[in-house]
Amino acid sequence: MLNMTSENKDSDTMPDPLLIQESGEVYRNPTEVQMSQIVLPCHANHCGELSVGQLLKWMDSTACLSAERHAGCSCITASVDDIHFEHTIGVGKVVNIIAKVNRAFTSSMEVGILVTCEDLYTDRQWKVCHAFATFAARRTEAGKVKSLKQVIAHTQMEQMEYSLAAERRRMRLIHAEIITDLLSKCQEYQDAVAAERTRVESVELVLPPHANHQVSTFGGQIMAWMENVATIAASRLCNAHPTLRSIDMFHFRGPSHIGDRLVLKAIVNNAFKHSMEVGVCAEAYQGGEPLRHINSAFMTFEVLDSDRKPCTLPRIRPEPVDGKRRFQEAIARKKIRLDRKYIISCKQTEVPLSVPWDPSNQMYLSYNNVSALKLMDNRNNWVLASEKNKVRLYTLEENQMLCFKVEMNVRVSAEQTFHLLSDLRRRMEWDRHYESCEVINQADEEDTIYRVATPSVTKGGKGKDFILLASRRKPCDSRDPYLIALRSVTLPTHPPTEEYTRGEVLCAGFTIWEESSSVTKITYYNQATPGVLPYISTDIAGLSSSFYSAFSACSQFLLANKDSLAPKPSVQY
Ligand code: COA
Ligand code: ADP
Repeated sequence: MLNMTSENKDSDTMPDPLLIQESGEVYRNPTEVQMSQIVLPCHANHCGELSVGQLLKWMDSTACLSAERHAGCSCITASVDDIHFEHTIGVGKVVNIIAKVNRAFTSSMEVGILVTCEDLYTDRQWKVCHAFATFAARRTEAGKVKSLKQVIAHTQMEQMEYSLAAERRRMRLIHAEIITDLLSKCQEYQDAVAAERTRVESVELVLPPHANHQVSTFGGQIMAWMENVATIAASRLCNAHPTLRSIDMFHFRGPSHIGDRLVLKAIVNNAFKHSMEVGVCAEAYQGGEPLRHINSAFMTFEVLDSDRKPCTLPRIRPEPVDGKRRFQEAIARKKIRLDRKYIISCKQTEVPLSVPWDPSNQMYLSYNNVSALKLMDNRNNWVLASEKNKVRLYTLEENQMLCFKVEMNVRVSAEQTFHLLSDLRRRMEWDRHYESCEVINQADEEDTIYRVATPSVTKGGKGKDFILLASRRKPCDSRDPYLIALRSVTLPTHPPTEEYTRGEVLCAGFTIWEESSSVTKITYYNQATPGVLPYISTDIAGLSSSFYSAFSACSQFLLANKDSLAPKPSVQY
């Protein structure tokens, strides 16, 4: 387990700074719910550290109360996204949990949960984890709740979370599909431990203290029971006390109530060099009824030595059929976890240019592409640098980074604008910097990889080429824009060539807002890399207005095609 000496100063995940309203009152998000608990010995495991199961119960209750405050009705946990625990919490420390609703969809809400730990003696606080849970409004006799009230974002941080919540939701709903593509060959290890040795089965009777005010079992309670059996399975492999490092997304498939018998089953699915994946399944029954599947989860454990370094673990020999399948699926999930950590957990400025593209990281790269553009779109410190005939050029300089955006209105519907701009091959019709553009991989309906070539800026010099991932999103509701995000990726099939210098785009793209049925606001964003600076710096300095020529050409192209049916990009591999 990690010691708690390092203080986390990660401001992105800390609550919003105080916002003083005109009335003089300090703004507080109306859905915010806080819980503070002193960690007592009864909450701790054998190492004197808060058990993760207890922490999950507190997190679930706080988040549920926040969801209910917003929805005004009873809510249930639908899922909890992956959680990475950065620190453990010792007895005597105070755990502070803050939950607030980031966004409401039709019948479900995303709740952000921040857990910090406080040392009362030294007055220090540090982050333990930041999680996202989805709560659904409980169905009534009249059926599914049809429209929860919207969340109104007041601060820039709230706006950003609101915007990113739609992208996280998309990722949640396609999570299961990704695994199926990734199954790799099963490797047999000599001297491996039979997985069967780690199998655990345990039953729990759901009593009133385990249920909420609506007599359903608390999601947090079920997660705590699952964590308990998973820890036993992990201990059986290593004959030591394991440390829980991360939990993959929890999805509550069905409800459970007082009087249910919950059967919890766990087994080590696979052991890697320094970590193991334990799978847990929770099923419920009452009397002679058949078992109902409530939840399945995958947890990653490590074993630390006295220097807190991860020990090498024995390999696993899986059971035939299901065991072998789970063994392979665990490899696929491990790859996804690593990709996710690499792509998503990096701060925007730390994400390396041109991340290699492959089917396992497709979902995260696409998320990263869209969220980077949304973050730029949410900034409120843009400075107007130049304006010509209502085409406006703005800049934003921060931490040695320069971004610019160009904004204009067109008399073309937002949907048609989106269709016309989202096929990058058509950009050659208005952007003279696009010499050629071809589709090289149609990953799915919303993600396409293009190769774009641009002419040389100097006479006789080399042209540049780019391998660009274009991620297109339609609005989730009227508060979202249409969006086309662009970033560089690398593809082994398209290495740099002698003929062209390989250029890189960190973050660029369009947001398209419907101002009225015929007027659309288009904003083009670009986080400048050294390659684009020569094109834009004279404009920013007010010495030229080439941005204006490019965007009036774009406007003419849109007007000329405002009634045409935009062709879909064709698939070419
Ligand atoms: N992650 C996040 N949200 C999910 C989800 C998942 N894995 N699966 C479904 N949802 C969301 C849907 O997007 C939908 O939201 P929307 O109306 O805002 O678009 C909402 O949940 C309802 O989905 P729907 O398709 O209408 O119903 P469903 O049959 O898939 O049911 C649950 C979803 C969550 C209601 C259902 O699985 C359930 O009752 N689970 C048990 C919940 C529970 O009791 N939890 C406490 C622990 S026992
Ligand atoms: P899957 O088999 O696709 O992984 P399940 O929901 O059936 O999904 O199970 C989730 C996890 O729970 C499994 O990966 C496994 O680790 C564990 N598990 C399931 N059934 C058993 C069982 N009978 N005994 C022990 N562990 C089990």
